Amino acid sequence: MSIQQTAIRHHLHPSARYTGNFSFQVSIDGVLMISYRDYPVFIFLEIPINLSSMKRYLLVTGALCCFHSGIAQTVLPYKNPRLPVEQRIKDLLSRMTLDEKVGQLNQMNGGAFTGPALNNAGQQEKMQLVKQGKAGSMLNVIGVADTRTIQQAAMQSRLGIPLLFAYDVIHGYKTIFPIPLAEACSWDTRQIERNAAVAAKESAAAGLHWTFAPMCDISNDPRWGRVMEGAGEDPFYGSAVSAARVRGLQGKLDDDEHIMATVKHFAAYGAVEAGKEYNQVDVSRVQLWNKYLPPYQAAVDAGAATVMNAFNVFEGVPASGNQYLVNNILRGQWGFKGIVVSDWASFGEMVTHGYAADGKDAAYKALIAGSDVDMESKVTITHLAQLVKEKKITIQQLDQVVSRILYYKFKLGLFDNPFKFCNEAREQANIFTPEHRVIARTAARASVVLLKNNQQALPLAASDKVLLIGAFAESKDDLFDFWIAQGKSNDAVSVYEGFKSKFSNLQYAKGYNTDLTPNETLVNEAVRMAADADVLVVNLGISGKMAGEDRSLAHPEIPEVQIQLLKALKNTGKKIIVLVSSGRPLVLTPVEPLADAILQCWILGTEQGNAVADVVSGDYNPSGKTVMTFPYATGQIPVYYNHFNTGRPTQTDGMGNWYARYRDIPNEPLYPFGYGLSYTAFTYSQLQLSSTTLSRKDKLTVTVTVTNSGNRNGEEVVQLYIRDHAASVVRPVKELKGFEKIQLRAGESKTISFTLTARELSFYNAEGKRVLEPGKFSVFVGGNSRDTQQVDVELR
Ligand code: BGC
Repeated sequence: MSIQQTAIRHHLHPSARYTGNFSFQVSIDGVLMISYRDYPVFIFLEIPINLSSMKRYLLVTGALCCFHSGIAQTVLPYKNPRLPVEQRIKDLLSRMTLDEKVGQLNQMNGGAFTGPALNNAGQQEKMQLVKQGKAGSMLNVIGVADTRTIQQAAMQSRLGIPLLFAYDVIHGYKTIFPIPLAEACSWDTRQIERNAAVAAKESAAAGLHWTFAPMCDISNDPRWGRVMEGAGEDPFYGSAVSAARVRGLQGKLDDDEHIMATVKHFAAYGAVEAGKEYNQVDVSRVQLWNKYLPPYQAAVDAGAATVMNAFNVFEGVPASGNQYLVNNILRGQWGFKGIVVSDWASFGEMVTHGYAADGKDAAYKALIAGSDVDMESKVTITHLAQLVKEKKITIQQLDQVVSRILYYKFKLGLFDNPFKFCNEAREQANIFTPEHRVIARTAARASVVLLKNNQQALPLAASDKVLLIGAFAESKDDLFDFWIAQGKSNDAVSVYEGFKSKFSNLQYAKGYNTDLTPNETLVNEAVRMAADADVLVVNLGISGKMAGEDRSLAHPEIPEVQIQLLKALKNTGKKIIVLVSSGRPLVLTPVEPLADAILQCWILGTEQGNAVADVVSGDYNPSGKTVMTFPYATGQIPVYYNHFNTGRPTQTDGMGNWYARYRDIPNEPLYPFGYGLSYTAFTYSQLQLSSTTLSRKDKLTVTVTVTNSGNRNGEEVVQLYIRDHAASVVRPVKELKGFEKIQLRAGESKTISFTLTARELSFYNAEGKRVLEPGKFSVFVGGNSRDTQQVDVELR
């Protein structure tokens, strides 16, 4: 039955029939009304009730025809959800003033827009700017109530262009997951994707559309506080993790449970000199392509909506204004169509770098390099319109940039429903749920790395008399890092609380002050209490507060007061288990001889205590492998597995001289990349290749048998590395090219196979082209980057 017929049949009663966004209604007294999304848009005509059915039918039909032909004029094309996005963008651009266009490129820091904060002059001013269409996005406006208030202001702007809300959700919104570096030690990309999906779901429920994650920076330097935010030192593994994080955060970006991801910091920010935040970078193009770019590219290929400029220079040009990085590589070679956002004030900082003469020059250089959104430096909102008026930037260039931002606003559905992410019920139901905490606990225990376990010192028995020592085991304040979004450390489980649920014979001694000032009384107390214990579990490390941005350390080491404590405890002769809390690998060389077992616990988020207790008690058999090398000494940094061989890797005379080494420490790190123990043991055998020679088009199959030779079920991360022995540019001594995390029951064996193709055997030249060169390759397989078996193959 047609709408018209339905309307006529029910003319004596209110009747309605919905088609998409429009509803038609003929009221009791014969008034035909047409509504768009519940708003009456048209009161068409009164239909006399004494007319015959046929006449009424003709009248209504005629009215609807008129209405349909009128729709085109009534609903503006950019507001019409039935039109293709490209058409809507084009229409909107045609209606926008120059200032409104520039406004889209302005990202303002937000804050609270409800309660007393709203009356604050600064907040009122931001509201006004939003109403004038002078901001396209905001960061740090959080929660449904606040995002709704400011979005309502955006709806009052001339064209009603919705805002995007962004926030640093780095490892969880309120349910806090392990820091990304720790999470990566799980080598479980499915779990990593799931964690990101939970973070996205909670963020989306809190009114957010966009997070500034994942950080895809490769780094070899634990002095840099931000290594906590990445996936470690390896480009191959970093690529897998970065892509998983993007998939988890974004999904298909077509629902209200996912948010836009940001690939950051583009590019090579992880190479900051001496691990100092905001410092300069100086890497070659060959290094850029082979070591630093792959994870960004993998994240872009996974569909990331946005990319963030780095703070550093590349070849002397700040990343935000770097044509080679943004226009040439990202947009040109990789075909990235999304939004490029500056890092905080990085457009304006081009002046301080000494690359732009003033703010106007900075705005110009950012835009022509291919960067779009200005986070908080304000040079764009201040100067871009003038640059267009002066014809330094064409309106076509500006339109192209603005259309990238509008595209994602349409894609997220914000033009059709600006409040799509503002749903209180969802905010109540989807944040910090018991299910999310279960996922966080699973992720946290898989992140722990067992570095040492002499004579099976771990796991402990539930009946053991345990003395837990260390202020960090109890302090919730020191539990969380810098990037905790809305996580509350008081909601988190401390190690002490986690232990209480596993060990009934538990005592606690503080051992040291969290501010690390020496305190002999605390040491003596711990030593005295040790007399009654079977085992001492000592939580050492560095406060979570020292992990994150602006937290570079010249000494990534165990603080001296803790070493003194450990030495005193060692004298008791008791079994010592060390738990290391830190957002980076620390120099554990002084700890190693004093401990029977060492667990690298990182910073594990909300479920820290439960996860650590699961591992210590043996309820979970550790399976993490470190994704960053643990240095032997600070002076050895940067130390990493995929280094070059040099011309003198070993002694060149008969007396052990003239080679690349330190005179005072070994060349080897304390623990290599990929290293981590289990409560069971794994042996590798029968490493085989499908062929010992290979043509360029062949696929090489590598098989290896892995056996769980211990007496517990466990998980192992099987790792495959290659070495290209002679190439037009030297290649690392080992490069990861495959990995698989497997479960093996006690006594069980599995044959694992990997496939190597031209892709894995090739490398990038300085122009970013993949080259495959014939010659000898070695293939290594093992449970870490050091302890491997080797076979060779010839590429012809
Ligand atoms: C950091 C970014 C972060 C941004 C926004 C900057 O200082 O380097 O990683 O996303 O601030 O908070």
